[in-house]
Amino acid sequence: MKNSYKRIDAHLSSLGYCTRSDAKKFLKINELFVNENRVFNPSIKAYHNDITINGENLDPETLIILLNKPSGVICSHNDAGVLIYSLLPFRWTQRNPKISTIGRLDVDTTGAILLTDDGTLNHKLSNPKKDVVKVYEAHLKEPLKGDEEKIFASGELFLNGESKALLPAKLEVLSPTCVRLEIVEGKYHQVKRMFAAVGNRVLKLHRISFDKFTVEDLKEGEYKQISL
Ligand code: URA
Repeated sequence: MKNSYKRIDAHLSSLGYCTRSDAKKFLKINELFVNENRVFNPSIKAYHNDITINGENLDPETLIILLNKPSGVICSHNDAGVLIYSLLPFRWTQRNPKISTIGRLDVDTTGAILLTDDGTLNHKLSNPKKDVVKVYEAHLKEPLKGDEEKIFASGELFLNGESKALLPAKLEVLSPTCVRLEIVEGKYHQVKRMFAAVGNRVLKLHRISFDKFTVEDLKEGEYKQISL
């Protein structure tokens, strides 16, 4: 785990407590200690793990969050509408580097999404070619025809506009119009396009899990910190 040694104002601003220019004021109002010593001077250097504010440890230097995304919430920093970041504590939204989603879910898709301010981790896990297992539950407009499981497992399905076939995906039929689908890629609108490719339409999509993380214990809109 990281334990940076830097100026107090740099700790405070990168973790979203206040801006660098407000650090002096912040230290008057809040009791910041480095070990046993109360600090008023924002230019003093200290290790992250030695700092407390009002008796609490500083927020972690790296955040990884699992969130159960509700429908209607957008995975973007700058779109009109309700952004996913508005579900997080305000201080987390002020961090630098910013917290971003690892990949995206469509606005009408619900379920498991990870967020982090660790750019390297984000890049690694959001790579559409990376073998991260994602499990979805999809409600379909039309009853299944019966050959979908074989087609998805074949490794020979081409999405509209793509020149490379999808990797094999596992389909489990839950009812004639409800399935569980396990995929390892993360192409744009992948699940909806897979069902479009077999003449069907996804009416409702929920991501049950991303990698080993499921949202079964989280209500819609709830989140928790995780470690990988
Ligand atoms: N596939 C889709 O079509 N939409 C999502 O949101 C996620 C996967």
